[in-house]
Amino acid sequence: MFQTTILARKRRRPEATLSQGHDKVKFRDVILYLVERRMGKSRRNFLSNLARSKGFCVDDSLSDHVTHVVSEGNTAQELWNWLEEHDLKKPHDKHVLNISWFTESMSAGQPVPVEMKHHIPNPAVERRSFPCTSTNPTSSVSPFACKRRTTLDNHNKSFTDVLEVLAENFEFSGNQGPCLAFRRAASVLKSLPATLRRPGDMEHLPCLGEHSKAIIEEIFECGSCSKAEEILNDERYQTLKMFNSVFGVGIKTAENWYCRGLRTFEQVLTEPNVRLNRMQTAGFLFYEDISRPVSRAEANALKVLIEEAVTCVNPSANVYITGGFRRGKDFGHDVDFIIRTPVPGQEDGLLQAVIDRFRSQNILLYSDFQESTFDLKKLPSCRFEAMDHFHKCFLIVKLRREQVLEEKETDEERQRDWRAVRVDLVAPPIERFAYAMLGWTGSTLFERDLRRFARLERGKLLDNHVLYDKATKTFLPAQTEEDIFTHLGLEFIEPSERNA
Ligand code: CTP
Ligand code: MN
Ligand code: MN
Repeated sequence: MFQTTILARKRRRPEATLSQGHDKVKFRDVILYLVERRMGKSRRNFLSNLARSKGFCVDDSLSDHVTHVVSEGNTAQELWNWLEEHDLKKPHDKHVLNISWFTESMSAGQPVPVEMKHHIPNPAVERRSFPCTSTNPTSSVSPFACKRRTTLDNHNKSFTDVLEVLAENFEFSGNQGPCLAFRRAASVLKSLPATLRRPGDMEHLPCLGEHSKAIIEEIFECGSCSKAEEILNDERYQTLKMFNSVFGVGIKTAENWYCRGLRTFEQVLTEPNVRLNRMQTAGFLFYEDISRPVSRAEANALKVLIEEAVTCVNPSANVYITGGFRRGKDFGHDVDFIIRTPVPGQEDGLLQAVIDRFRSQNILLYSDFQESTFDLKKLPSCRFEAMDHFHKCFLIVKLRREQVLEEKETDEERQRDWRAVRVDLVAPPIERFAYAMLGWTGSTLFERDLRRFARLERGKLLDNHVLYDKATKTFLPAQTEEDIFTHLGLEFIEPSERNA
């Protein structure tokens, strides 16, 4: 099979080098020209043939009807000097692009939309229109969170905190649209390498609608935002936020309680018509502990506990921290773990055994085990936002103080020798590990945009289980997260850069 591919390519090469050969042109609006200078003749031939085999039209000479000029390794200055020597009628009507646009397009199997970061601008024109280009770090920010590198270093916290309060308030009133718009705006600001200094700095940023811009302008003017202050002092907002902070209490339940006139936990717990489910009961029982952030030292101690339990059942299994801690956060509302078993089928029964062991060790305070409903035949599902189908469990466990190294304890904490912690475990089949790891690492907005990008820009469907190519109707295999990014024609984004 490998050999026939080589033979087929060899046979096609000589004619394809000089003309479009027998490859059918699929994209008539795009005429490529690859600059040989620095790229070299053989690489240029190789790339030209690759593009032609995918239905692109590649011209061997630079003429007026070329639409996309692709260059590799040239400085902007030498490239534009060379282009201007060609006496083209309108050199500035062409897209002059670096190789990244070409690579992404090859991987997508179609021309991807040209973005700022693909462009090689003419230095002479740049100097004329943007006198301070080098101090304009915001000109190439992508509207997709999965193309931005967002570390925990937020230089715009004074703006993002406000935007997130507004987002949360819309979430509480069931307005998903504006909620997402404010979340996106905050996320873009989180990715910036520097603090916004003046309203003009917002000019080239994506995802900032007029409302977000108005809020930011107000903060520039007054140092605060009146709408956000109003929300923070609003009784309804405060009460919903408090109810929603209980494990098992979603926004619907919080709202229901508020509408019944309930305002405090005590009122909820003494109201005869309120029936708490098992999860909510545990949520109230351990409220104080589990509403206190979990530290990294505590997360590491839990990892040891889980490793002991897991390897007791299966010595070849591995435990990885995922979620916020994998993104480098120092504190989390829970600790997320993914278990990797090297042989298909070994994931079955594993979580149940971990739960049983915790119970026998008397450290299990709550467990909700969900058996796998994973079935490749039922995928891809159209509900790509839905929960995944792997074996998983949501736990509350007792973490003993002596198990936590580097623990700094306060007097009041010393009275008890343990604390309750929320733990999530997931055990996917080995061939699904990379997708599950990518999906559980988050952040939520990063995941959302990764899926949106796959669907809108690449015609592919991504979720915690699979990557599916709609054009070829095939599932794309991946052993690692890197494989998934490569299938999507995206630069790899480290977990620590996914804090969108
Ligand atoms: N997740 C998921 N399927 C679930 C539960 C969670 O894919 N059934 C994903 C979420 O989308 C998120 C990640 O797992 O991207 C971690 O979820 P969560 O623990 O809620 O958030 P963290 O980012 O870890 O934040 P925190 O530190 O507050 O826990
Ligand atoms: Mn988490
Ligand atoms: Mn979690």
